[in-house]
Parts: sequence; structure tokens; C-alpha cells
Amino acid sequence: MGATFTHGTSNLCVLTDSIPSPLPATPEGLARAASLLRAGECVALPTETVYGLAADALNPEAAAKVFAIKGRPLIDPLIVHVPDLDALARVAEPDPQLTALALLWPGPLTVVLRRRKSVPDVITAGQDTVAVRIPAHPVLREVLRLSGLALAAPSANPFGYVSPTRASHVRDSLGARCPWIVDGGPCEHGVESTIVDLSVPGVARLLRPGPVPLERLKTLLGEVSVVGRTANPSAAQAAPGMLERHYSPGTRLRLFAAGGDPGPVGSGEAVMFLGRRAGFTGPAVFHLSEDGSVEEAARNLFDLLRRLDARGLALIHAELAPPAGVGAAFNDRLTRAAAR
Ligand code: TXA
Ligand code: MG
Repeated sequence: MGATFTHGTSNLCVLTDSIPSPLPATPEGLARAASLLRAGECVALPTETVYGLAADALNPEAAAKVFAIKGRPLIDPLIVHVPDLDALARVAEPDPQLTALALLWPGPLTVVLRRRKSVPDVITAGQDTVAVRIPAHPVLREVLRLSGLALAAPSANPFGYVSPTRASHVRDSLGARCPWIVDGGPCEHGVESTIVDLSVPGVARLLRPGPVPLERLKTLLGEVSVVGRTANPSAAQAAPGMLERHYSPGTRLRLFAAGGDPGPVGSGEAVMFLGRRAGFTGPAVFHLSEDGSVEEAARNLFDLLRRLDARGLALIHAELAPPAGVGAAFNDRLTRAAAR
């Protein structure tokens, strides 16, 4: 086990007998990550939402590696991460409604805009729009600064599986396919960014609920329409990430209402509550937060789902959240994880 990273700028390689160790989030580790990215390699990096598998967004060969590592179909476009609005304007056409939404940046918000020609087709899946985000995580911001690149980064998981919120998750599920991981600790939000489509003038559509709640978007934009999930893969082409079955663990999930009762729990099954629940104890009972905080539950959701998934359980009974705030995103991810 264990990797050795050779030093020097021109001879970057991983010497490993299996899966390499994470790069530390030190100045040296981040400088290494930036030079790997400049050389067209992929590096998994922490963001405030989930870990992303990053590559130079303007280098089609580098971006193609991201699809290969994830096993992601080429019809599913990537989010481009930029440090600021100047860099954003080099990849997308700003929209009048963007001024209001930009107040939420840097942060867990992605906006779909009309693309510039500079963005390769592989990033946008050939569409005339591009998804952009100005992230807040200091590690990703520093790598953006050091590399001078715009970074395409989907969640760093095999396509369709649960997103990673720890460096160890990336290691566990991508393994040697992703040799470079910067360990920035657990992610703050634990669910992927809110995605708002502004590519049709005067219209704002919520494509994916996330840490920025719909309520907040409405105070900034007025009307925001909500795009539903689809079970139909061909309809998913318009909004590719909207496939109903996504974020799925291998174990079957059964959802029950916030504050409700899970019903009978059989042997080989587990229960996942939002907070501690009186009357429920034992090795099959888990809670996502100490006090029932939905923010904390969202932060821990994918970690617990992954840990339970590794146990080969027959069924996980999972409590839904009250739907306000980040509860909508929490419920969206659980509902998709439960879809068969
Ligand atoms: O929090 C996040 O957004 C994380 C971190 C790494 O930034 N990224 C992430 O990327 O979740 P990904 O690829 O796992 O999910 C991005 C979603 C996909 O469902 C994709 O289909 C959608 O965004 N998307 C990307 N570009 C789009 C576009 N031009 N139009 C519509 N949807 C788009
Ligand atoms: Mg993803």
C-alpha cells in the first residue's frame, strides 16, 4: 500500500502498488495539483458541496479523461468552475438575471448560461449552454488561482453512484482510476450545488435543488420554475442530470415521512433517522445529526449511505426531512437514491 510522489516539475508520477495516498492540502500539495492540471491530468479536489474530479475545462483531451474515469456518458455535460466573474465571462455570456444570483457567489450555486465558443463541445455535450460555478472552498480556490485554469469538475464518483464528501470516498469508489486526490477534509454542505438555468432570457428554472434553497432564489429572482425529475433517458437529454435514478447506492432504500415511524425493521435492515429518536436504539439504528438539524444531516448523508451500503444490507429505511431550506435537496437525493 501507499504511494510515493516524486518531486520536480517535469517528472510527475505516482509510484504505487495499489491505490495512492491523497495529496495533502498544503502549499506543496496544491502546487502539485495545479501543475498536474496544467499538464492535462485529472485531480480530485474538495469543494464546499462534494468532491469534484477536476480537469482543465478548455483542454478537450483532459476533459475526456474525466468522462472515462467516471464511466460517464458523453451526453452529460460538466460544470465549469471559475474563480470570479471575469473568468466566468470568458466561458459564458452573462445574463441580466445573473447580477442578482452572483450575490450568492462564491458558493454552492451553479448557473446554466449561454456558452462562449472557447468552451469545447465535450464539456457542454454539444449544447449551446454551459454550467458555471464560482466555488467557495479555499482549496479549490487556491488551485484555481495557482493553475490559472477554468476547471471542469463533476462529482468524483462512478457515474450514477453516491457523490463523495470525503477524500476516502473518492479513493474507495474510483480507486486507482483516479491517482490524484487532494484531501481537504469533509465537505461543508454534503449535497451538490443548486443548479439554476438562466439560458432562456427572462426565465429562471431550478434544475437541481441544493444548499441554496428555492426560497432564497425566489427572493433574488422573483419567479423560479422547478424542473421535475424524469425516468425517461431520452427526455434527460434536455437536462441530462435529471434522470430519476441517480445518486444510487446498491442497497434498496425505503423512505418514510419526516417525524414518522419506519414501521417494522427486519433482520439485515437498518434505519436512518435525521436526529436521535427516543425509543429506537441498537446496532441497526443510525442518526444523521445530533439534534435533528437538516444542514448537519445533509452534510453526513452520503457518508452514512456509503457506510451502510458497504454492509450488504437487505434494506435501509430512511427518514425524509421537512422540505424547507436544504431539506428539499436532502429529499431529492434520497428519493433518487431510492428509485429503481
Ligand atoms: O456541487 C456540485 O455541483 C459538484 C461540485 C464538484 O461542483 N459538481 C457536480 O457535478 O455535482 P455533476 O457533474 O455531478 O452534476 C452536474 C449536473 C449534471 O446533472 C449535469 O447534467 C448538469 O449539472 N449540467 C451540466 N451542464 C449542464 C448544462 N449546460 N445544462 C443543463 N444541465 C447541465
Ligand atoms: Mg454527479
